[in-house]
This record gives sequence, structure tokens and C-alpha cells, in this order.
Amino acid sequence: MSDGGVGSGVVETLIEALAEDPRPTLVWGERLGAPTPYRAALPEVAFATDDLETAKALGIQATVLPKAKAWARIVIVMPKAKAQLLLRLAVAESLVEPGGAIWVVGHQRDGIRSAEAVLAERYGECELIRGKRHCRVAAAWPGETSARPELDGFEARFTAPGPGGAPLSVVSLPGVFGHGRLDLGTRHLLDVLAADVPAYARALDLGAGAGVLGAFLARARPRAEVVLADVSATACEASRRTLAANGLTGGVLLTEADELAPGAFDLVVSNPPRHEGRAHAHDLAGEVIAGAARRLGRGGRFLCVANHDKHVTRALEASFSRVEVRYHDPAYRVWDATR
Ligand SMILES: C[S@@+](CC[C@H](N)C(=O)[O-])C[C@H]1O[C@@H](n2cnc3c(N)ncnc32)[C@H](O)[C@@H]1O
Repeated sequence: MSDGGVGSGVVETLIEALAEDPRPTLVWGERLGAPTPYRAALPEVAFATDDLETAKALGIQATVLPKAKAWARIVIVMPKAKAQLLLRLAVAESLVEPGGAIWVVGHQRDGIRSAEAVLAERYGECELIRGKRHCRVAAAWPGETSARPELDGFEARFTAPGPGGAPLSVVSLPGVFGHGRLDLGTRHLLDVLAADVPAYARALDLGAGAGVLGAFLARARPRAEVVLADVSATACEASRRTLAANGLTGGVLLTEADELAPGAFDLVVSNPPRHEGRAHAHDLAGEVIAGAARRLGRGGRFLCVANHDKHVTRALEASFSRVEVRYHDPAYRVWDATR
């Protein structure tokens, strides 16, 4: 793929299928590429996405759910997690016109066949519209339009150790990293923070996910300003819910690191992204590390956890004057780096 799309032929296969049967369609998913080829295939097409980069490529706002509007067809591009597919199907059922179609498209590698099984079970039938390039477009017809589901019904809650040992309530939503459970790496970083809470007046949780690290910082130093940033609208919504569940205040921003003012923080914490499509995890982690460094003033600290990987160490050493390992085991390291 050269268009920044979901990759491996998904977008091409979908556009071919849409062009064969043009009708008003909402395409919902991440890494959809540019809008032009869809518009060439369909007279009426709109997009919804949770992801900031996808939204920018399409010229739309990233949102957790699409706007309430009836569509003859809703296409869901295979999401990463089954819980997210189930949420999106429930919402699509409330947006599709009576008799309208729900399509799911994806690469076999992304589990499209399991989505076909979900469609068949949920709607009694599932038809293969197109299969090409190891990608499949599957269709089902829900029949009646159903009521729009509340996001609250899809929340998963768990606890995480807070400052002084008092637990924090964490609220996550389908599609958020580590949905419904505390990630082991995050747990190690929390332990390092709890053992010796750093001093900070302005702290940033970069790639906040459900907001567990940011909530820890907001509770540990109530007078500090804490910002939680993520490129996923759903992660931002989960972070807001986590802060609210703990009676905490903090700014939650749908933004990339580089959109934040340089040197604005004295502490950044992060469990950087590990996998995203075909991009190498260490490239992504490297970008987040460099982005974190630019957000810090002189002497500012960056605490991060990642799988033990020489690329992470190199990225830290390239941007920080002092880099220490505060925790390590065969899988994880927690680094404490000073600008
Ligand atoms: C490994 S998860 C960590 C989530 C959370 N901090 C935790 O510990 O559970 C990484 C997060 O970074 C976000 N992310 C990915 N690229 C980003 C970027 N360029 N800027 C900010 N956040 C990003 C992802 O959406 C994801 O929520």
C-alpha cells in the first residue's frame, strides 16, 4: 500500500466491492487511506474513525462513535479487538436503515473469518461479497434498526495500585490498549513511581490509553497540572472516565506529542506503543521517546516502560543526558531519563 491505508489490499478490495454496488455508505475504521478513491467509487460516502492520523488523512474529526445518521450500508473495517467489533456492530445496527446492510472487511491475517462467524451468529446469515488479495468483504442484513447503545454498557473496570497503595479505578473501553486489565509493563512503571514519586508541577502521560498512569500522577500530586494525551479518541474517552471515576482533574487531549508545546512539562511518563500495523514497534516507540524529550524543559524527567530492546535504549540515549534503568526483568525495563 502506498496510500497510508490499512494495508495488504484491504482498501483496494473494499473500494472494488463498493464500486460494484454504489449506495450511500458510511465507512468506519482506522487507516482507511485518502478519501479520493472512495469518492470515485461512490456518489455518497462518509467516514468515521477513532484514530487521529486516519482522521487527518480523511479531513474529518476523530470520534469514538459516528454521528447519528441513517445509512443504506455501514462498512466496518476489521478492528484489532473482538470487543471493538461487537461495539461497532451494535452501533451500526442503530445507524443502518431498515433492510440496509452491514459489511465487515479485513485481511485474513486480521481475523476476518472470525468476524464472518460473528455476523452469521448475530444475523442468521453472512454473505461473502468479495474475496481477493487474502482480504474478504462479508455482508449481513440486521433487518430492523435498533436503539443506539450506550457506551457505558461496553465499559470494563479494573483496579490499579495508586499512590500510597490506595487502589485507582480504571475505566477502559473496547479498542483501548489492554482493555479490561492492567498491563504488566504499566504495573512495573506504577511500582517505580510509587517507590519514589518524582517532583513535578506539570506532568504528561504520553499515550495515556485508559489513563492509569495519568490518574496516578494526578492523585499523587493534587496541585500539579496533569495532561493525558493519546491519538485514539476512545482512549481519550476512557481516560476522562478514569479521572472522573477517581474524582480527579486533568486535561485529556486527543493529540500527537508534537502538537504539544515544546518544553511545557517537567515530567513525562509513558508506556509507548508496541505494535501498529506493519510499522516496527521500535520506530513507534522511538518517535514517542523523541516526542517526550521535546516536551520537557532542561532537567525534566521521562519515566517509561518497554520491552527490553536496544532500540529503546538508543532512542533514550539520543535524546536524554542521563539514562538509568530503575527496573528490569527478562521481559521489561523501566527507564528514568533526564533531559
Ligand atoms: C502501550 S499503550 C499504553 C497505554 C497506557 N499508558 C497504559 O499504560 O496502559 C500506548 C498508547 O499510545 C497511544 N499512541 C500511539 N501513538 C501515539 C502518539 N504518536 N502520540 C500519543 N499517543 C500515541 C496509543 O493509542 C495507546 O493508547
